[in-house]
Parts: sequence; structure tokens; C-alpha cells
Amino acid sequence: MSFLVNPFTRSSRAGDAWFPAGTASSYPNVDDSTRVAEQRKCLDKYTPGCRIFHVPREDSSKAVEVAIDDWKDSLSGDAKDQVMVFQYKGKFVAINHECPHSSYPLSKGTPFDIEDFGVVLSSGITCPQHDWSFDLHTGKSDRGSYKLLVWEIQQRPTADRQGETDIWVRRKQKIG
Ligand code: FES
Repeated sequence: MSFLVNPFTRSSRAGDAWFPAGTASSYPNVDDSTRVAEQRKCLDKYTPGCRIFHVPREDSSKAVEVAIDDWKDSLSGDAKDQVMVFQYKGKFVAINHECPHSSYPLSKGTPFDIEDFGVVLSSGITCPQHDWSFDLHTGKSDRGSYKLLVWEIQQRPTADRQGETDIWVRRKQKIG
């Protein structure tokens, strides 16, 4: 018997698995007027524009939501292993919560359209700590070689609610 081996995949790790991040309708649709974490009306109540999850590297099924004002890790004091999920102008994105420059929480950042002569090419977020910006889809910075970690995100139909979708997130898979 012979086995076909795909050289571009690696064995899956529990820390790379998908985890659910709530229903799509529980996320306000954020625009570029203010910082992501600002409260906005959604489903008849006010809620932060993003949700933060702590996702253990060794097992993402143990992901837990972190209150927006309670993001500091009790041991390290930083936002390590946290993903920030939000909806910007109708598109869902998931990025590392900590800024790749100096670990400032990007929930305090402000999203914006990346334009060229009036044509929207992509979207980004500006970190207020030193005003660096990062592309929300490629992670590229407007300065230096710092790169924001962008997570994978999917919308899947909710099992028992027609028309509703669930948001699923996982760490970006590396090829090879
Ligand atoms: S910490 Fe974000 S730009 Fe410096």
C-alpha cells in the first residue's frame, strides 16, 4: 500500500484549530469614525465594536472571550495570544490584539480605508501609540518590516437559525 504525502501541509495542532467567535449579528458594523473598541448600537443594545479572545497556543478549543477593559494578561500584563475580531464596513476581520511594534492593544486603534487616488484598495488600522498603520488583510506596516498577524476567519450558517451565520477563527496556517 502506498500513501500520498502532500508536502505543503503539516500535521494539524490543537492550537491551530478553528474556534467559534459568536454570531455575525452580535458584531456592530464598525466604520472609520472612531476607535474599534468604542461602544456602538447592535441588536438594540450598546456593545464594543470588537470582541477579544484569548487563544492558548497549545489548544485553541480553550479559547475564552476577554472583556474589552480586562485584556491585560494577569501574569505578563500584555495581550499575548489574543485575537481581536470585528466587522469593518461589512467585512469581518481577525487580527492579533497586540500591536507588532510595541504591543499596544489594537482595540484602541482606528480602522480606515487604504485608498489610491480615491480607489479603495484595502483596509487598515492605525495604532494610536506611535501612529503606525497596518493592513488588515496582509498585515503589512506602513513603516519598517513589522508585520501584524492576521488570523483566518470564516462565516458559517448557524445550525438552528435561518439567515444567521457564526464567525469562526483560527491562527493563520503556515505552508510547509
Ligand atoms: S505600539 Fe503600536 S505603533 Fe508603536
